[in-house]
Amino acid sequence: HPPEEIQGLLSTHIAEYPDFPQPGVLFRDITPLLRDARALRRVIEHWASIIPEEIDVIVGTEARGFVLGAPLAYEIGAGFVPVRKAGKLPGTPRSRTYDLEYGTATVEIAEGALETGVRTLVVDDLLATGGTAAATVALARELGAEVLGASFLIELSALEGRTRLEGVPVSTVWSLE
Ligand code: PRP
Ligand code: ADE
Repeated sequence: HPPEEIQGLLSTHIAEYPDFPQPGVLFRDITPLLRDARALRRVIEHWASIIPEEIDVIVGTEARGFVLGAPLAYEIGAGFVPVRKAGKLPGTPRSRTYDLEYGTATVEIAEGALETGVRTLVVDDLLATGGTAAATVALARELGAEVLGASFLIELSALEGRTRLEGVPVSTVWSLE
């Protein structure tokens, strides 16, 4: 569990929307956290403190993995590499298609974005079924990165996304049933 202060900030700054974007999904909205300067800073600082040492690059997934992954990278002194939804990257990106809690998606990474052996952490706002994170890990490895872990602000533990990330140490700030 996170310290009480962080737990309090998360429970008051992450909103819940039942049946969005489709029936049966309880959507967790991080935008109240993003717009509160102090809460955002404290949560990023705490998150940085639970991350393995010596990460060279954070790989974050569009769109919420950008908004949280970039300040986290800045805080730990790492670079940031974006994994984007299909059709956004020029050149000859590598692609993976995967299932979501709602629908399917294709993500891409730029050829040459990661050097061989670069110590990499995959970051996103939320771990649900793990499809997005598994695809992102696969893309990073395809480019030759050493994936030292995956880290999430929120984990929906009942969806067992961790099982899709076998062999990847997973850390989460806030685990919810
Ligand atoms: C959400 C979330 C994660 C993913 C988690 O992104 O930000 O990337 O779903 O789900 P999973 O573990 O079942 O794959 P979404 O695809 O809704 O896109 P967005 O970040 O652009 O809102
Ligand atoms: N991505 C996948 N499942 C989600 C949820 N329940 N809330 C917010 N983002 C999500």
